[in-house]
Amino acid sequence: TDTLTLLGLESSCDDTAAAVVRHTPGELPQILSSVVAGQAELHADFGGVVPEIAARAHAEKLDICVEQALLQANLLLKDLDGIAVTAGPGLIGGVVAGVMCAKGLAAGSGLPLIGVNHLAGHALTPRLTDQASFPYLMLLVSGGHCQFLIAKGPEAFQRLGGTIDDAPGEAFDKTAKLLGLPQPGGPSVEAEARQGDPQRFRFPRPLLDRPGCDMSFSGLKTALLRQRDRLIAEHVGLRRRDRADLCAGFQAAVADVLAEKSRRALAEYLTLKPSAPILAVAGGVAANMTIRSALETVCTQAGAAFLAPPLALCTDNAAMIAWAGIERMRAGARDDMTLQARPRWPL
Ligand code: KG4
Ligand code: ZN
Repeated sequence: TDTLTLLGLESSCDDTAAAVVRHTPGELPQILSSVVAGQAELHADFGGVVPEIAARAHAEKLDICVEQALLQANLLLKDLDGIAVTAGPGLIGGVVAGVMCAKGLAAGSGLPLIGVNHLAGHALTPRLTDQASFPYLMLLVSGGHCQFLIAKGPEAFQRLGGTIDDAPGEAFDKTAKLLGLPQPGGPSVEAEARQGDPQRFRFPRPLLDRPGCDMSFSGLKTALLRQRDRLIAEHVGLRRRDRADLCAGFQAAVADVLAEKSRRALAEYLTLKPSAPILAVAGGVAANMTIRSALETVCTQAGAAFLAPPLALCTDNAAMIAWAGIERMRAGARDDMTLQARPRWPL
């Protein structure tokens, strides 16, 4: 049969992950296991991911994640058809650890080795979860990424635009830090914003006056800092109410920018005349309900379907890497021991 069962490895940021995915043409892909070991507590005291600490933790945890993924799938290495691994982009120490681990497994088992671009992993997830057919529009929004892509094939992505400075997740994290809220900032800022008034403070909507799909989020942080310091000077400290209103104003600005740029990206994508137009999201920021509903509205107005994979598959995981490996293998791709870890690797 044409059934393919792949092990996937992911170690490009601060999650170590291994997963097994099986696919038979004409049937739904099956995630047989998906193990994710996070490192949040290791980096908590540093206000960001420390590359050296991340690399060591990946090297320590990868083999355990692989063992668990195989155990949960109830499979041995010999039952697999290949090993897929994130070969970039990302923090080089972690990517090297993953690629070395995958090369060892491939050399020891004789299985094919497939290098996967981490962004392609995110961008192909709508096909793993919802059988999305090409071409579809993707918005990747995470702590490290923010871009619009038209997915035209397993290895064919057209970039429409993206952030020229911070990623939105990074902006949420910095906002939380400036307001003394816990990390990761996304969920805590969203929780505060629920009690707040988004209209009270004025936040800029950067780059909306310029054509195209590029975005900018670093100005929001500056605006927030200025309002915060003015409030602290006035009241000798931040009142609960002020903090909630600042979070709500900031979040509304991010949602507005993402919604308006999505409207433009959709217009460009619709000129391809897809038979069933789709806007799919991936990345941790896609968990935000205000942002989700803003994007949903834009899709309804444009006559496109809105796809948001389950959160565990929106954030970093290895099932998306195994799946992207299956798609690459079906397209005839193979790598070998010359596979290189690439810190930078645009799609
Ligand atoms: O995709 P992800 O898990 O990791 C990468 O950055 O690759 O995304 C994490 C980011 C963090 O910056 C986090 O603050 C943000 O996603 N995030 C959110 C929410 N949940 C997570 N941002 C806004 N609202 C949320 N509910
Ligand atoms: Zn990612």
